[in-house]
Amino acid sequence: MKSKYQKIKGTFDILPPDTRLWKEIENILHNISQQFSYEEIRTPSVESTNLFQQNVGYETDVSKEMFAWEDQSKQQIALKPEMTAPVVRAYIESGFFRSNPLCRLYYIDSFFRREKPQKGRQRQFNQFGIEAFGSSSVEQDVEVILMASTCLKALSINETILHINNIGSPDTRTKYEQLLTKYFLQNTKALSNLSQKRLHSNPIRILDSKEKEDQLIIQNAPTIKELLTNTEKTDFNVLLSNLDALNIKYEESPHLVRGLDYYNGTTFEITTKSDKSQNALCGGGRYDFLVEQMGGPPTPAIGFAAGMERMIIESNHEIQKNNIDMYISCNDLKNSTKCFSIMQHLIENDYKVFFDTNKKSVKNQMKDAIKRNVSFVLVVDKNMTIKNIKSHEEVVVSDFQQLLNFLKTQ
Ligand code: HAM
Repeated sequence: MKSKYQKIKGTFDILPPDTRLWKEIENILHNISQQFSYEEIRTPSVESTNLFQQNVGYETDVSKEMFAWEDQSKQQIALKPEMTAPVVRAYIESGFFRSNPLCRLYYIDSFFRREKPQKGRQRQFNQFGIEAFGSSSVEQDVEVILMASTCLKALSINETILHINNIGSPDTRTKYEQLLTKYFLQNTKALSNLSQKRLHSNPIRILDSKEKEDQLIIQNAPTIKELLTNTEKTDFNVLLSNLDALNIKYEESPHLVRGLDYYNGTTFEITTKSDKSQNALCGGGRYDFLVEQMGGPPTPAIGFAAGMERMIIESNHEIQKNNIDMYISCNDLKNSTKCFSIMQHLIENDYKVFFDTNKKSVKNQMKDAIKRNVSFVLVVDKNMTIKNIKSHEEVVVSDFQQLLNFLKTQ
């Protein structure tokens, strides 16, 4: 039967049993974050449109693909397409920067980008991410990358590549932009239409192009490495030697600039080994100037975000069995109060219960219990009879304590 209503293009329902998988994966990520001493942050789904335009960058895909509108009071608002700008806004607005200078936050949330939907690319998607404020040291970069790597390992995502780069300071970036513009101008005709447009608005973005005709030109483009200062080069080497010591494999990717404007210094992405188009699982980097740009005090920062849907596709995590301990069968209205009392007590004692409110026949309830992977059915009439689904044994109990004692011995 065709439903009268369909979900909006690019959005998905997460249904059972997948919701259980999501919950388990979310729990793993919550636990790891807490082990690394990060605290959870939650921010509103909507923000001022200009928060993203001004700080993620007017010319970035993320800003251009926002779900944004003017509301009834003529405010320009947008569904958040990413979390770094909202976290920085909250960090400044709440005064956290005063009370908590070395501040480490994480989130699991939904984001919205009006991209062309395809496998692994949705218009509403979920990210797990972290943001670490207050440390400019390269050790902070190591910690953040160690955390990303720990999360993927814990989710049994094995075949990945960590791509890493250092894009230097904003000054270096400006010089690099000039160098790239010069190089791309010499190759304008061979570039895709999209890249030709970007050549004048944001030439660095051409390095992110997925267009076939751009790939060879990108491969031969100058890298930012030649423009880095000695300190930046040394820091990068310290970062790499720490990753070596932690046995975190990486590939230096001198053209990795990332699709958002706020980055400087270390940038990284973790992709699957496959060359399918949506293979980026996780991306992040330093954004040492964003807090100040958004009105806060100068505060170095670094973070990453990982796509939940993409991680779940790649994860080999095995979902735990959802065993129901007791199926309660009650076919007579006058016993239902007794059933609810049993249910209440079982739940208070940490058992999982299924109560058939449809009052099927006991025979059908037994079939249903098998389907639901239940071990015992409790038939409540004037007695309380426990039926063992597998062995077909039956035990009559006279009160709740006896029922509890029985369950404890199983
Ligand atoms: P991003 O690279 O735009 O970075 O997104 C991070 C990850 O979110 C991607 O690697 C991908 O796994 C997932 N993702 C992005 N767009 C979609 C989509 N349309 N459908 C499914 N998954 C998607 C950021 O968002 C930065 N805020 C990360 C960051 C945090 N940098 C510093 N701190």
